[in-house]
Amino acid sequence: MLRETLLVPAVGSDPSKLDKLLEPAVDELRAGRPVAIPTETVYGLAANALCPEACKLIFATKNRPMDNPLIVHIASLEMLRTLVRPRMCAIDSHRERNGKEEVTSSSSLPSLLGSTDILDDLAVPSSLKPVLCRFWPGPLTVLLPRRSDVSDVITAGLDTVAVRFPAHPIAQRIIELCGFPLAAPSANLSGRPSPTRVEHVLEDLETRLAVIVDGGPSSFGLESTVLDATRSPPMILRPGAITLKMLQEYLPGVVVFKKSGSEGLTAEEIKQMEDRPATPGMKYRHYSPTSPLVLFDGTAEAVEGHLHQFIMDELETGHRLVRLTLKPSSTPINNPNYNEFVLSATGNHEEIARNLFAGLRAADLLHPDLIVAQSVEDEEQGLAIMNRLSKAASITRHYN
Ligand code: TXA
Ligand code: MG
Repeated sequence: MLRETLLVPAVGSDPSKLDKLLEPAVDELRAGRPVAIPTETVYGLAANALCPEACKLIFATKNRPMDNPLIVHIASLEMLRTLVRPRMCAIDSHRERNGKEEVTSSSSLPSLLGSTDILDDLAVPSSLKPVLCRFWPGPLTVLLPRRSDVSDVITAGLDTVAVRFPAHPIAQRIIELCGFPLAAPSANLSGRPSPTRVEHVLEDLETRLAVIVDGGPSSFGLESTVLDATRSPPMILRPGAITLKMLQEYLPGVVVFKKSGSEGLTAEEIKQMEDRPATPGMKYRHYSPTSPLVLFDGTAEAVEGHLHQFIMDELETGHRLVRLTLKPSSTPINNPNYNEFVLSATGNHEEIARNLFAGLRAADLLHPDLIVAQSVEDEEQGLAIMNRLSKAASITRHYN
């Protein structure tokens, strides 16, 4: 039986008092137990990445299947040394020449990371340097060749390790105070929508954790973009806040896997991705509210009439419904069995992304018979929104 959960009020705290406030979280992490921490994407369930026993507790705490690998969070490039294989000059240079990677000198690139010389010592693909200089710290996870002593608990036996340098100052400070990298998946029970507010973490994990750090609402609201630049062409495995277009500028040739057709991938490669996903997480059901979600996919004009009729028919049969709308609806429905949550005042994709998981959880708390939502265009930020919405949906209806 756990003692009562300590909720650390780190958000808005006086920076000079932050280290003191974070002490119980850091002590818990040093003792090898998981702690929920804020990040700019979603809350993470963190544990010492260098301690397999601590990482095993992450899986037990959130009921995560052991074959779904974890992202490791760092707060300095120096920490990469504990995770990434050292560069073996002859082999790695040969591989880069064959893969026609452009070798860019990282030291001349402006960056918040300080000196990036360390990347030259490690088996970090040279093509990734400009990307890391531009997008770290931030919501971008990259796959890197792992050191052989990185635990299989973290990598699920794969030969890469997923690494992210979060931008959230509280996450960074916790990692710095610990002095070791933190493995952290999202801090939800497996299958549930990821937590973007501390209330969501409490909802799922309060009875299972001794310390939860409150860092306020997550500013992005969807998980990081996962990029694999160890393969050719480099590929986005999970779309997120850092979009294909943003990456293309720094990593020419990068592609993204889309069900509707992936530029740069052959039909055979697409089939292979569907049969054998490169991100083990892709095969699991995700982000699901308890009530079934019906997704109406198509342009706003094509969908609106059908969606309205569907809602009216369902209400007629006595069902209770919640609709997640992308912006305030033009045809309000007045019915005690009907509720609407507006994800954005203007249909803005960043705002929809920030509010999507909170909307799914709020809808679920009303225990409706059905939740209904409609698609956004799967471009830019919209691709990440659609990726999460499609996985959350029990049924998708297509309209053209
Ligand atoms: O924004 C985020 O990424 C959040 C915060 C806490 O940082 N974390 C997060 O972790 O979303 P999680 O576990 O919910 O998602 C990690 C994804 C999974 O789809 C997993 O399969 C994939 O990353 N992944 C991890 N290591 C991998 C590897 N070596 N190869 C391929 N995919 C990997
Ligand atoms: Mg997750």
